[in-house]
Amino acid sequence: MRILATGLSGGIGAALQHRLAQRSDVELIALARKPDHAGARPFDVTWDIARLAAALKDVGQIDALVLLHGADILSPPLCQQSYWDRLDVLYQVDVLGSIKTVKAALEHLAPGGAIVVMGWDHADTGAPGDASELYATAKAALVGFAKSLATTLLDRASVYVIAPGWVMTRWAQSLSAEQQEQIRARTRAHRWQTPDEVAAVIESVLQLPPSALTGQVFYVNHGDVMPS
Ligand SMILES: NC(=O)c1ccc[n+]([C@@H]2O[C@H](COP(=O)([O-])OP(=O)(O)OC[C@H]3O[C@@H](n4cnc5c(N)ncnc54)[C@H](OP(=O)(O)O)[C@@H]3O)[C@@H](O)[C@H]2O)c1
Repeated sequence: MRILATGLSGGIGAALQHRLAQRSDVELIALARKPDHAGARPFDVTWDIARLAAALKDVGQIDALVLLHGADILSPPLCQQSYWDRLDVLYQVDVLGSIKTVKAALEHLAPGGAIVVMGWDHADTGAPGDASELYATAKAALVGFAKSLATTLLDRASVYVIAPGWVMTRWAQSLSAEQQEQIRARTRAHRWQTPDEVAAVIESVLQLPPSALTGQVFYVNHGDVMPS
């Protein structure tokens, strides 16, 4: 299985990379905006569509496209920007960046292949605060795209959304023990998700029978919040 992926330098991406490194049947092709990421192809999802397509020209046939990139508006420097600038960067990276990357990679996807994009478990239930408003706007838009894409592609390829809750990644680790505890206490399951738990679900959806579950949103949050 050849998997083309963005965001492997992030918390969830690193966990997925670690899992897939144990598998002899998987070739992982990394796309990264920072050229220092080992073995990665240079790829910034904010590039225009022609440049993204050119960057993938010689990638060969792939069996899955896994998009783990995302704008981290909770950490510096983005957390210091205005509401409107954070909204814009989320749109450019999470929404437009994902749509453009899918369109640029689609011609390389084998019949019966899979596309995975990242949502957020509160995107369709809502949560208070500026960051929640911004993330929910971007992630709900991405879910709308993914569900429609699933119907466009039907038997040609499967499209899945992975929607984690609170995951112990870079931003979470930067919080004080007290802040981490406050968030943990707010969850129904009284726990943070680990990046590996999310990575395990991503690995699992790539093994699903083609098309049967296309268009689904998989909530990875131990039942913390579900849409009504
Ligand atoms: N962590 C959570 O609690 C949580 C919860 C729900 C959903 N999610 C979603 O899950 C995904 C992964 O989350 P994470 O916490 O692992 O993310 P993360 O640690 O913040 O990493 C983000 C990744 O996106 C890449 N990226 C950012 N802008 C990019 C661009 N313009 N072009 C290409 N790559 C770009 C980053 O690359 P650089 O190394 O170059 O910065 C990094 O690899 C994101 O979509 C996030 O929104 C996360």
